Amino acid sequence: MIKKCLFPAAGFGTRFLPATKAVPKEMLPILTKPLLQYAVEEALDAGMSNMAIVTGKGKRAIEDHFDRNLELEAQIQGTQKEVLLKEINAVCNNATFTYVRQKQMLGLGHAILTGEPLIGNEPFAVHLADDLCTSEKDSTLTQMIQVYNKYQCSIVAIEQVPMNQTHKYGVIAGDLIDNTNDTCRVTNMIEKPAPKEAPTNMAIIGRYILTPDIFNILKQTKPGKDGEIQITDALLTQAKQGSLIAYKFKGKRFDCGSIQGYVEATNYFAKQQGII
Ligand code: UTP
Repeated sequence: MIKKCLFPAAGFGTRFLPATKAVPKEMLPILTKPLLQYAVEEALDAGMSNMAIVTGKGKRAIEDHFDRNLELEAQIQGTQKEVLLKEINAVCNNATFTYVRQKQMLGLGHAILTGEPLIGNEPFAVHLADDLCTSEKDSTLTQMIQVYNKYQCSIVAIEQVPMNQTHKYGVIAGDLIDNTNDTCRVTNMIEKPAPKEAPTNMAIIGRYILTPDIFNILKQTKPGKDGEIQITDALLTQAKQGSLIAYKFKGKRFDCGSIQGYVEATNYFAKQQGII
């Protein structure tokens, strides 16, 4: 059973400057809800209650958000605004939050390794809050846990992207292992390849289920693309052992780490809620 979800949230979010100068990127809202709250709600929905967050300098707003604010609650008690804190208070009450700070931004792989003391020796999920997913039925993490329960190894969620976008993602190649065409055993993966070097257009998105051996692999992983410790390089070691599955998730993803994706997500949710 997967109980813990790790949220790497230490990055500088430079694409959103100046907004992210003092406000964590993960706290930028889609309508009124911060990206990281969508993320934690997805993990709760998938049955996890232990949220492990990797933070860094300038990220204290995250801890305040996932704590009760009794003064504020007293202020709006008995007014129509009381309902506005209902969802976040339910999140605070139903989950436990642990934090660790990444002292240097050495990459996503390093951020995940920084989370080891919060996770320990058990399989866990990783959620990147700037990839916001919606689905008609099960959430992306719920779907992935079903796949994990079947194969009992690390799982990455993938999406087919236009060939000219491969340089933004980790890209995989693999052998189909089921007849629904949505699961394959990964044989190769490359971090941010140019289109002509990309083995396919199947890109890894910000959802992972990882087995805990990933931590020892990460400890031995040298800096790769852009001088960062890449999770893709560590996952390639698992792939070579035959223990990495890629799953084409059902749903829609917004890349809220980019301005275009952020605007698209805002419009999508505004339409859904009848605001525009
Ligand atoms: P990004 O690659 O989007 O980097 O990280 P970023 O710093 O957040 O944004 P830009 O590119 O400068 O605009 C993907 C996720 O991994 C986390 C980020 O917080 C984000 O959730 N991350 C990345 C870390 O926690 N630590 C790192 O060293 C790098």
